[in-house]
Amino acid sequence: MSNGLLRALSRLTRIPVRLFVRPNRRINAAMWDTQYALGLWSYLDGMSDGTVPLSLIETWAPQPTILDLGCGTSANLPLAPGSYRHYHGVDISRKAIAQARALGRPNTSFDVGDIRTFDSSERYDAILLREVIYYLSGAESAALLRRLPALLTPRGRIVVQVYDVSQTGEFVEVIRTCGVPVVAEVPTWLGDGPAGAFFVLAASAEHPSAQSGGVDGRAVAP
Ligand SMILES: C[S@@+](CC[C@H](N)C(=O)[O-])C[C@H]1O[C@@H](n2cnc3c(N)ncnc32)[C@H](O)[C@@H]1O
Repeated sequence: MSNGLLRALSRLTRIPVRLFVRPNRRINAAMWDTQYALGLWSYLDGMSDGTVPLSLIETWAPQPTILDLGCGTSANLPLAPGSYRHYHGVDISRKAIAQARALGRPNTSFDVGDIRTFDSSERYDAILLREVIYYLSGAESAALLRRLPALLTPRGRIVVQVYDVSQTGEFVEVIRTCGVPVVAEVPTWLGDGPAGAFFVLAASAEHPSAQSGGVDGRAVAP
């Protein structure tokens, strides 16, 4: 299916999906499983932008513990053995988590779960929300972002990725106004111009360091 068709389908289904599917955990999970079974998200596995959050994390936490919320198959995150202490991925789709586990990477663990209610007694140096925030409502994403600092180590940071700032304005606003300080913003490029971004949030704004450099980002999202 072409990228243009995927985008058009996504726009047509956005409102019913928001109103009827997402609020119900089981239907939401079944919808994501179906999408993974149809291979609609397989293209993500070949994306190279997974290097960006890992090099960002390296700047505040070498050898980090990482929590990846809405991790998908996690295949696009190049977790080199020895470069991280532990990686834990959570996703609502059993199929995505089965594929993630099948990668058999060392020091990784996975859970099928809804990030809207996710909690843990563990603490993490980095919490990733890559291309997932807009599958929650604005209120749910704000509530999640406000809860996450409690799951961070003292050096921990949250990294939120959006593929296109202009198309996800409501969520960019949530990220900027949720009350958890944005300490860095790394734009991602689609073709010639800036489009998406990695937002780095910290429990406190002690060391603000907005970055101006950019990186190549994703071109499409179904
Ligand atoms: C666009 S994919 C991104 C996957 C991965 N983070 C990446 O960037 O390659 C969105 C992922 O969010 C997951 N997801 C959506 N809503 C979720 C929820 N409420 N709880 C957990 N995972 C969710 C989907 O199953 C899907 O794997």
